[in-house]
Amino acid sequence: MSRLTYLVAAPAITVAAGFALMRFATDDDAAPAASASGEPGAALVQVALPDALSERAVLGKRAFEAKCISCHGENAAGVDGAGPPLVHKIYEPSHHGDAAFWLATQNGVRAHHWTFGSMPPVDGLTKGDVDAILTYVRALQAANGIL
Ligand code: HEC
Repeated sequence: MSRLTYLVAAPAITVAAGFALMRFATDDDAAPAASASGEPGAALVQVALPDALSERAVLGKRAFEAKCISCHGENAAGVDGAGPPLVHKIYEPSHHGDAAFWLATQNGVRAHHWTFGSMPPVDGLTKGDVDAILTYVRALQAANGIL
């Protein structure tokens, strides 16, 4: 590398590295996509189950298991290599409000919190179905201290 190239490149690299660190430091939502076990398909978090589910949450569980479980996992615990846990602080109601669920199913979700890739839109769900799924996921979250 010529001296001139070095003079130009070194500050550029420093700035780029600084920017990357800054992003990392400020983006407290960034979370790795790996599980403790590192096995593809494994759950990513441990989920404590609620003592009881409301009738609406039971309907939501059924719809979740038909349409969401392949990526978000049993009890919304995530699937290593496929999708994130929805029982996770990132998805607490104050950060991902109820509308986020309807928007996610209608429009899909561009990858931004995790490294699983983007979520495609999910067909065949009414607003009522998604509301029931939301009730179910909120019940799971609440049982795990995510309020
Ligand atoms: C093909 C895999 C896949 C399926 C099926 C899927 N999701 Fe997702 N979903 C993802 C991924 C991956 C993300 C995370 C994207 C990111 O932030 O990096 C995500 C994120 C979300 C989010 C967060 C949205 C946001 O604003 O950040 C919600 C809510 C969600 N999914 C709900 C659902 C529901 C409800 C279903 C079933 C009706 C479902 N998903 C089915 C892969 C999937």
